[in-house]
Amino acid sequence: MTALDLVIRGGTVVTAADSYRADVGVRGGRIAAIGDALTGAETIDADGLLVLPGGIDAHVHLDQPTSDGTVMADDFASGTRSAAAGGNTTVLPFALQIRGQSLRACVEDYHRKADGRCHTDVSFHLIISDPSPQVLGQELPALVRDGYTSFKVFMTYDDLVLNDAQLLDVFEVARRERALVMVHAEGHDAIKHLTRRLEAEGRTAPYYHGQAHAQIAEREATHRAISHAQLIDLPIVIVHVSGREPMEQIQWARARGLKVHAETCPQYIALTADDLRGLNMDFEGAKYVCSPPPRDTDSQAAIWQGLRDGTFDLFSSDHCPFRFEGPADTGKNNPRARTSFRWVPNGIPGVETRLPILFSEGVSKGRITLQRFVALTSTNPARLYGLYPQKGSIAVGADADLTLWNPTLTRRIRQADLNHGCDYTPYEGLEVTGWPVRTLLRGRAIALDGVPMAEPTGTYLPRGTSEAFAQAGHGLAPPP
Ligand code: URP
Ligand code: ZN
Ligand code: ZN
Ligand code: ZN
Repeated sequence: MTALDLVIRGGTVVTAADSYRADVGVRGGRIAAIGDALTGAETIDADGLLVLPGGIDAHVHLDQPTSDGTVMADDFASGTRSAAAGGNTTVLPFALQIRGQSLRACVEDYHRKADGRCHTDVSFHLIISDPSPQVLGQELPALVRDGYTSFKVFMTYDDLVLNDAQLLDVFEVARRERALVMVHAEGHDAIKHLTRRLEAEGRTAPYYHGQAHAQIAEREATHRAISHAQLIDLPIVIVHVSGREPMEQIQWARARGLKVHAETCPQYIALTADDLRGLNMDFEGAKYVCSPPPRDTDSQAAIWQGLRDGTFDLFSSDHCPFRFEGPADTGKNNPRARTSFRWVPNGIPGVETRLPILFSEGVSKGRITLQRFVALTSTNPARLYGLYPQKGSIAVGADADLTLWNPTLTRRIRQADLNHGCDYTPYEGLEVTGWPVRTLLRGRAIALDGVPMAEPTGTYLPRGTSEAFAQAGHGLAPPP
């Protein structure tokens, strides 16, 4: 047996199933041994640290164009640097199809933006905004076979929304090709109706974004998406679930044996609609505009219960960064946004703070176990999105994607310390206990103590079929 390149010595190895003290040995970028008293060319002392499978953030927006020309605050370089500093080794951004554009051209576009610039491994989900006969009949099946095995569809946003017939058409192709569909479930017409009404009443501050994107509209669309998936017999993922009402629809479906998976995000446990008020119903509130919006403390409690009981499989950031100040006439605080919340770009940053927030609010405060933390942030995303067992676990043969985590280090989240391209964090001042001190991608450091390495060593990952297709029923094992 050839010598190990690297040994991570004396840490507590944590997987979705267990934790135990062991050395982890790395050779050729992979985990080659897990055991006692391993020796290698290089040693990292992990005494007192947790050794976690690298974070996999399965919902990230980088370098996406917007309909009004607003430029996203992160490209693939800055976004993945920020991800690495936050303890992630893989991120799954979107390749967004502009209507009229061929899907293949879209994917090539995103490869040009990403290739050679990424600090974590990456793989694209496709956003289908124009399911033409050419896209459904030829491009999509070919792309799934090339390893683009998941796509997102939208039930709202003028430039992305699909009607019910189009949703069903996409679902049918997904079933045939065994691709996993992620659904943005918010009812477009209800949101438009509420927006018009609020604007007519002069209620145009960012706060009213939260009322226009009512939880009832999310609940209705969640049920509609589930029903369509049931008609086609397709597993789906409801992404960025914000609160109790859509959760009840997901639980209703699960109780009937439907293959509905669910994702939630930091904003739904760490923010509420009150944050959208800003200082005094002013434009500071725009810093919290995302869709679905943060809800109330009752929904936060429901989300925690869902993170514990397995209603949620995934905890992703939905990192979608827009600067608050400019440049020029864009950004969250732009002149047009001041006329109505309708024009505030939707989305908030969070790829770097996802793991610390869930660890601190969840594990450190005793709301979820370490195993649940790893399942939600690494193992389940790998399994659902066709990356397991290369990614998402600590096992011999897996990529040596490891995050060394100090469970007792207390920090305050500060914009000044973050590596994203955004000019603010919605979590400014939040105290967290538990912090990533070293992120290793295939055995090589990509971040140390919150500072990313200069060299981008990430690669593109073609993906296999989701485990959602492997089993009958709901699929992923429920938490113990
Ligand atoms: O407001 C959000 N979440 N923007 C990002 C796009 C999306 O819908 O995920
Ligand atoms: Zn969405
Ligand atoms: Zn599930
Ligand atoms: Zn998103």
